Amino acid sequence: MVKITYHGHACFLLDSGTHRVLIDPFLTGNPNARVGPDAFDDLGAVLVTHGHPDHVGDAVEISKRTGAPIVAPFELAMFCQRRGASVHPMHIGGGHGFEFGRVKLTIAHHGSAFVDKTTEYTGNPCGFLVDLGGKRFYHAGDTGLFYDMKLIGEDAPIDVAFLPIGDNFTMGPEDAARAAELLRPRVAVPMHYATFDVLVQDPSGFAALAADRGVEVAVLGFGETREFA
Ligand code: NI
Ligand code: MN
Repeated sequence: MVKITYHGHACFLLDSGTHRVLIDPFLTGNPNARVGPDAFDDLGAVLVTHGHPDHVGDAVEISKRTGAPIVAPFELAMFCQRRGASVHPMHIGGGHGFEFGRVKLTIAHHGSAFVDKTTEYTGNPCGFLVDLGGKRFYHAGDTGLFYDMKLIGEDAPIDVAFLPIGDNFTMGPEDAARAAELLRPRVAVPMHYATFDVLVQDPSGFAALAADRGVEVAVLGFGETREFA
């Protein structure tokens, strides 16, 4: 049994009871986050899919305070290390066994740079396969639809797939439903919507489209925790 809490945008906490992993912790400045970066302790790792500020978010601060390593593509991990975080760099196609479980990096079709007053390159974006508490999770990161999602689904059966549905920067609901069909998870969970005006989507529309393709969807409310047995 693993508990999943949705903190809005692309941020999820996975909690097996023994181990916790936080993904894309954009809390400060996220209108749908009900908690701040101080809410997390005793993390096995902070996983960050790419360098955009709505994904790196509070990762460096959380790593510095808790000691949890940031797991990210190499260039992004080095970026976080330069800011004082502890890191575990990886890259696409590679997997690694941690105390909490196994992480494997997948491709994602998107950009990856930290952009504020200047633009700092942070490598390629990624998605994550995470084995935790006897369950397999796939966090797609920010991406467009790609046919290799079929391969990702064949790697081992996915229990829960987190898929962006916001359109504009990533897949919209139609492509996310096609992604769900390629991945064939037990449950698909929509993310990366409603944070900004341009990302307004109805997740129940995605649920209907995915159901047409034979995939069940669980829509988590902002701040909601749900158990996946
Ligand atoms: Ni992005
Ligand atoms: Mn994003």
